[in-house]
Amino acid sequence: MTILSNGHLWRYSEFISNKNFSFRKEQILKSLSKKEIDDAYLSIKKWNGYSPTPLINLSKLSKELNLNKIFYKDESKRFSLKSFKALGGAYAVEKISKGNKDITVSTATAGNHGRSVAWGAKRLGLKCKIFISEFVSDARGQAMANLGAEIIKVKGNYENSLIECIKQSTENGWHIVQDVAWDNYLLVPKYTMAGYSVMMKEIFDQLDNNEISHIILQAGVGGMAGAMIAGVARYLKNIPTIIVVEPDSAACVLESIKTGKIEKIDIKRESLMGGMSCGEVSLVPWEIIKNSVNYCISLPDDDIAKTMRLLGNANFSDEKIIAGENSVPGVISLIASCEDEKIKKEMKLNKDSNVLLIGCEGDTDEKMYKKLINQ
Ligand SMILES: Cc1ncc(COP(=O)(O)O)c(C=O)c1O
Repeated sequence: MTILSNGHLWRYSEFISNKNFSFRKEQILKSLSKKEIDDAYLSIKKWNGYSPTPLINLSKLSKELNLNKIFYKDESKRFSLKSFKALGGAYAVEKISKGNKDITVSTATAGNHGRSVAWGAKRLGLKCKIFISEFVSDARGQAMANLGAEIIKVKGNYENSLIECIKQSTENGWHIVQDVAWDNYLLVPKYTMAGYSVMMKEIFDQLDNNEISHIILQAGVGGMAGAMIAGVARYLKNIPTIIVVEPDSAACVLESIKTGKIEKIDIKRESLMGGMSCGEVSLVPWEIIKNSVNYCISLPDDDIAKTMRLLGNANFSDEKIIAGENSVPGVISLIASCEDEKIKKEMKLNKDSNVLLIGCEGDTDEKMYKKLINQ
């Protein structure tokens, strides 16, 4: 298969470099400490059914793009939840419950975070209330109900579901387990990020002395990206070029990096990359991201289905990879960057590059997955 034969088949919308770039390990590890990162790994590795997810070599794609190696962290194999989110919400539930079996946890979610909270509550025998917006598919709601959570559907978007979650939780004394930080609500999102950072520990162990030169991180509210950057600061000796990728309809990190302060986006169109369709970067990750990201890229939805299909058909690697909508932006932005000579040169993507991509999820919504790969 020739991916680049006709050139410019893969599209990005915007590409910017961070004029405030200055990677400082100690500063990053003030936002998410070495102890918080290590505690999460020591706890999660003891969970029933834990094993590191695969780090797959996209050898066919790296050959095509003239790069040395492309590593793809395959989170479709993360517990039974098929998403890196399983590491975050469930770990935060464990931390806030402190062994107390008599509490109710609650959250507002676009899907995968809530699944992690519901699963974490089930693991520990806690009651769980999940608030979802009208845009969350019935399949995603059902998946959380199947884990024993009560689902409360709220009219409007994610923010409306969060407002309702805070209101009802305050009235009823439920413990909110949110992955987004706001003033005076920083600890739980930190636990969530500490849970995500387990991915970086596993990658560090799996790299087998290969040094990563570039890492592409998807962002919604930035929790995953911030956690992985903290993981880079904690585990890696060499600091790779760090790139954040987002949907062009919700590029809140990109817009904030442009001005150097948190910018709120008015989302006019919901991206297919639903988990990343967030209008505002969260406080804890922002403190990490603002000086440590080299570049930001935004993408239209155009190449998502095609990329999911190519991964699923083993066109990029020796094995088939089940990649959900939020899993492919790393691949798309890498190909689009390699197709654009100017960006390729600026990012120093060349035959010595070892690029790390995060395959955030598998077919977390099986119906949607089938529909997209058969398009
Ligand atoms: C399923 C899913 N949800 C959410 C996100 C975004 O994570 P965060 O909101 O922590 O930036 C991703 C990946 O970026 C994802 O794959």
